[in-house]
Amino acid sequence: MMRASRKPLAPVEQADPAPSGGSLVPAHVAIIMDGNGRWASARGLPRIAGHREGARAVRRTVEAAIEQGVGWLTIYAFSSENWRRPAGEVLDLTGLLRQYLKSELAELRANGVRLRVIGEPDRFGADLTADLREAVRSTASNTRLNLTVALSYGARAEIAAAARSLALSVREGHLAPSDIDEEAVARCLFTDGMPDPDLLIRTSGEQRLSNFLLWQTAYAEFVFQDVLWPDYGATHLATALAEYARRERRFGARPA
Ligand code: FPP
Repeated sequence: MMRASRKPLAPVEQADPAPSGGSLVPAHVAIIMDGNGRWASARGLPRIAGHREGARAVRRTVEAAIEQGVGWLTIYAFSSENWRRPAGEVLDLTGLLRQYLKSELAELRANGVRLRVIGEPDRFGADLTADLREAVRSTASNTRLNLTVALSYGARAEIAAAARSLALSVREGHLAPSDIDEEAVARCLFTDGMPDPDLLIRTSGEQRLSNFLLWQTAYAEFVFQDVLWPDYGATHLATALAEYARRERRFGARPA
């Protein structure tokens, strides 16, 4: 839903799809949004209340990413391990994702956001899959912010699937084993065509990757922020970007 009271964003500019290298603003920020459950239980509320507030934090962060010049934002909304959560919570999250798409799609489009999904979203059922497909299709020509949502995503499964696909190509004679280099592997990942994250943020004070973008974060800077995801917003993102700007990225090379 468009909210007229919200501050309009600056005019649309094209996002630079290239990785930032030595740039001070990370081209690609990946976020592990953690702490929804703790946010809710601290208030004596059901977990879904934390997820609901987490969805509002997603909206704030998308707007902040645009305003702060980030071209790519990838968020971990549901891991392949999250299927182990109680069925009720999974159902609540599925409903929330559908609701988010319904209420935010017009705004995402108006703000020049291109939506992508990585992982196995089909596992959420036909309705959400159809909504996601439509959202991805209808934002495909946008270039201001590339927003990627990881849904039923697991990095080890992603890498194993890439290995399987390469093995099949070799067996079918389309590829020689010596052709399997880093680029060939990267092309088989969900993130094919996307730059690697420059900055990975995890909220809630936890310091783990939790099977998120294991291959793609090889040279990412990590920033762990002691804030629960539902409280996240523009100021927290600005703090993480400022920390990133202070880091010296060497990509394995010696300092000059
Ligand atoms: C982690 O908090 C959060 C999740 C597993 C779900 C993330 C979902 C959202 C932010 C809401 C909807 C998303 C979109 C894209 C609109 P947790 O439940 O593990 O928290 P805890 O560690 O405190 O229990």
